[in-house]
Amino acid sequence: MLSAYRIAINKLRTTQILDVKNESLTVKTFTFKDRECAKAKPGQFLMLWIPGVDEIPLSILDAGKDGSVSVVVKKVGEATGELHEKKIGETIGVRGPFGNSFSVNAGRILMVGGGTGIAPLFFLTKRLRRLAKRLVFVMGARTKDELLFKNELESTIDERHAEIAAVTEDGTCGVTGLCTEPLETILKSDEFDIVYACGPEPMIRRTFEMTEKQGIRLEASLERLMRCAIGLCGSCIVGRHRVCRDGPIFISEQIREFKDEFGISKRDFDGKTIPV
Ligand SMILES: Cc1cc2nc3c(=O)[nH]c(=O)nc-3n(C[C@H](O)[C@H](O)[C@H](O)COP(=O)(O)OP(=O)(O)OC[C@H]3O[C@@H](n4cnc5c(N)ncnc54)[C@H](O)[C@@H]3O)c2cc1C
Ligand code: FES
Repeated sequence: MLSAYRIAINKLRTTQILDVKNESLTVKTFTFKDRECAKAKPGQFLMLWIPGVDEIPLSILDAGKDGSVSVVVKKVGEATGELHEKKIGETIGVRGPFGNSFSVNAGRILMVGGGTGIAPLFFLTKRLRRLAKRLVFVMGARTKDELLFKNELESTIDERHAEIAAVTEDGTCGVTGLCTEPLETILKSDEFDIVYACGPEPMIRRTFEMTEKQGIRLEASLERLMRCAIGLCGSCIVGRHRVCRDGPIFISEQIREFKDEFGISKRDFDGKTIPV
């Protein structure tokens, strides 16, 4: 049975877009007010309704004391395309916040973020930057212009104990390649208590394999198709888990359980198994 809290957060609330910011040619940040989602913790997600189009899951980029909430959206299809057309003052709908969150640790921390996966890790960085003994943030994108929040991260972290390693596929900024490429060296040359990862599933799979080899705890944010977001419809199953309810953050022990499908296969909207 759903608790009173879960019934309350699952109610669709309409709100107006307060701000729209272009982050790159294909990525925009949208800000709006929502009392429930403003209480979100890093790693949680919301369902955003684009009237007359669809409802889609999005990680929460930031949640302020003034009730404001931001999400970062990459244009990939119909719903995200329609959302990109929306202007300040237009109406959207929100449910959430849903799912679990990243743990807030005080140790030596490695973040691995790819594409829009950088967003929830940026939110987490803001919450633990004063606690962390050391913080290394590896961020990857196809090209320099798609390295989201690099400047904002640079001004958020304390350079005395934190650093950012940029990786681009075309070599326009930092190391050339995929963001998992410098990881092996970083993991061997420095000591970490925990690795946080969010981004494309093959990136997380590779990060999982490396942390397993080094015996370091991983917390990774997973994506699956979502409809209800409250554990009822079964669209988001991975192993014996429902990503919307038991995740989206999964720890090493859980990923080990479903490693035969993780990074390899997922379900489509008809429940058919398809390659990742
Ligand atoms: C927990 C979670 C957090 C996410 N956070 C972000 C984020 O912060 N920023 C961001 O840009 N994207 C995020 N996504 C992905 C985003 O939900 C999809 O890009 C979006 O739903 C695509 O909708 P569309 O109609 O534009 O694309 P479509 O043309 O319908 O689909 C394009 C691809 O998007 C994926 N997709 C479509 N519908 C869904 C759905 N209901 N649930 C999950 N994936 C779907 C599928 O892989 C599909 O192949 C997140 C997904 C999940 C599950
Ligand atoms: S989206 Fe329905 S069970 Fe997860």
